[in-house]
Amino acid sequence: DGLHARAVAAGKKYFGTEISISVMNDASANNIAKNSQDFGQYTAENEMKFDALEPSRGVFNYANGDKIVAQAQANGQIMRCHALIWHSQVPSWVSNGGFNNATLISIMRTHIANVVGHYKGKCYAWDVVNEALNEDGSYRNSGSIWGSTIGPAFIPMAFAAAAAADPSTKLYYNDYNCDKPGSKSTGAQNLIRMVKAYGAPIHGMGLQGHFTTGQVGSASTLVQNLQAFANLGVEVAYTELDIATPSSNPNFNQQATDYATVVSACKQVSACVGITTWGFTDKHTWIRNSYPLIWDTNMQKKAAYNAILNAWGSS
Ligand code: G3I
Repeated sequence: DGLHARAVAAGKKYFGTEISISVMNDASANNIAKNSQDFGQYTAENEMKFDALEPSRGVFNYANGDKIVAQAQANGQIMRCHALIWHSQVPSWVSNGGFNNATLISIMRTHIANVVGHYKGKCYAWDVVNEALNEDGSYRNSGSIWGSTIGPAFIPMAFAAAAAADPSTKLYYNDYNCDKPGSKSTGAQNLIRMVKAYGAPIHGMGLQGHFTTGQVGSASTLVQNLQAFANLGVEVAYTELDIATPSSNPNFNQQATDYATVVSACKQVSACVGITTWGFTDKHTWIRNSYPLIWDTNMQKKAAYNAILNAWGSS
């Protein structure tokens, strides 16, 4: 029994977690991560990003990403692979290279071909393009080397390149603040239509799910949003779920209710294939001064754990 076992019993593919080399080096944390009853899937926190994998042009470093894949395979866990093209964590040789449009397109295609080729057959899904939208749903150009140099056409180009390198992995667009109906969610739906209009494949929408305790809202609102993506013919997943609560004054009961709400929404929509949390212990989280996860800093289960089990239903 566990978080993943209950998700599977509810008809989902997985419940999973983000993991990192630092978590793998923390034995008490890694023991939890290796429990395949709780986690049927991993996402690498930073180890498969552009700056990690191609730190200088044409030089690929797969050692850390491969360690994460090896642990997943040893435990029968699948990988969501993250993330090919993003405005953040771009190495300086790309962002400061002064490349023109044609050269940057070639750099992007070369990176995708190498990375997706290296992990061919090992990734259930790839986050092909990450966070390409502004909050109003328009395409992010300012602050993105890809958007500002190539324009939004880099998006379908990236999907086409990924499909060519591994025809059987699911290709996702992934973003935050698309978790509820609104202008950014509508923008993501338009992005999916745009990729299809260019003739490139897109199979999934990744809803990051970085929430704040007390602001998740109702399951019906989340369901309405999931369904709007499903209606475009793509699958959906919560890809980076965490629910922030201040470490100075945490509200773990409300946090547990909010985790249950997100699980209940995914459970109700058949196109929602699974949920990934952005870590699992409050000892290892990207959010400062917050306790957003399911195990506490001493590796004890918090209220959220049983709330998630109950929201999936019996095994
Ligand atoms: O590796 C360097 C290290 O050499 C250096 O000494 C240290 C000093 O600050 O920085 C290290 O790099 C950090 C890296 O994490 C690895 O630990 C970066 O500064 C830090 O910015 C980076 O943060 C990551 C962040 O993405 C980058 O934007 C977080 O760990 C990671 O959890 C976070 O994950 C993102 C998802 O990929 C996309 N969605 C949002 C999510 C949360 O921000």
